[in-house]
Amino acid sequence: MQVNTLRRQAWEALKAAEIADPVREADWLLASALGRPLSTLVFEGDRVIAPGKIERAWTLIRRRAAREPLQYLLGTQEFCGLELAVTPDVLIPRPETELLVEATLQAVRDIGRPLVLDVGTGSGCIAVSLTRARSDATVYALDIAAPALTVAKANAMRHGVYDRIRFVRADLLTAFSASPGGLFDVIVSNPPYIPARELDALQPEVAWYEPRVALAAGTDGLDYHRRLLSGAQELLKASGRLILELGCGQADQVLRLAQQTGAFISLVCRKDAAGIERVFVARKAA
Ligand SMILES: C[S@@+](CC[C@H](N)C(=O)[O-])C[C@H]1O[C@@H](n2cnc3c(N)ncnc32)[C@H](O)[C@@H]1O
Repeated sequence: MQVNTLRRQAWEALKAAEIADPVREADWLLASALGRPLSTLVFEGDRVIAPGKIERAWTLIRRRAAREPLQYLLGTQEFCGLELAVTPDVLIPRPETELLVEATLQAVRDIGRPLVLDVGTGSGCIAVSLTRARSDATVYALDIAAPALTVAKANAMRHGVYDRIRFVRADLLTAFSASPGGLFDVIVSNPPYIPARELDALQPEVAWYEPRVALAAGTDGLDYHRRLLSGAQELLKASGRLILELGCGQADQVLRLAQQTGAFISLVCRKDAAGIERVFVARKAA
């Protein structure tokens, strides 16, 4: 079989499975299965494919047609310009989460050797991006899921920042005790925030394949925000920032919860490219 024939069959199979961009995704999968750069596939239409590679390509096409995320099949996702390993043990990093990295870098702009805690690190996308961008920063990357920490460590190693990240397995902030001057300049988190009743209505790629521990957050989706808002104040230094990702429509409630703690000033929500209030930033009173 030639490359062009297989490309056409792959497009058709993915289109029938209602994959939004079947042409592009088929090419990504074929490039991976055939071990060829994506850019050359189009020029190699009459190249004859070895039977073993056809088999490998069809395995990937069938899995994608069953709505397994492309990123799990390819094993990578780009985040803040870095290629990160992803497995089904971790949430696939989303572009809007790059805003958390941006907000954190802005918060520590004038602080030498900042100390940051990334709660729910998953693939390590936030921790690795921060330590790559700030060579004097130390980041604690924390997750409750041991398999996620394994992926985060591999990504830290891949990008040469393993020595500046401390990996911690813990339930949110329970591993740390309050100290008089505070510990961290910033606590940043993209916590789970999907309300229980919405989980099964998510698109199949998310509902069927991404880890529930990375998504589910109780009845109203704010279980983790509540715990982080009440626990962070004891661990932040004076004027330290708490930076949290928000789900669609959660901004007002999170602002209210933050006000109720009485511990934070200058509460701000920033919008993402889709106009959704996505990033919550609060400064601890000095
Ligand atoms: C939405 S994912 C975010 C992953 C990554 N930071 C990102 O932005 O792509 C939430 C992460 O929180 C972790 N998590 C869930 N419950 C936790 C808990 N009680 N304590 C610490 N981490 C938790 C999950 O394992 C998951 O990796």
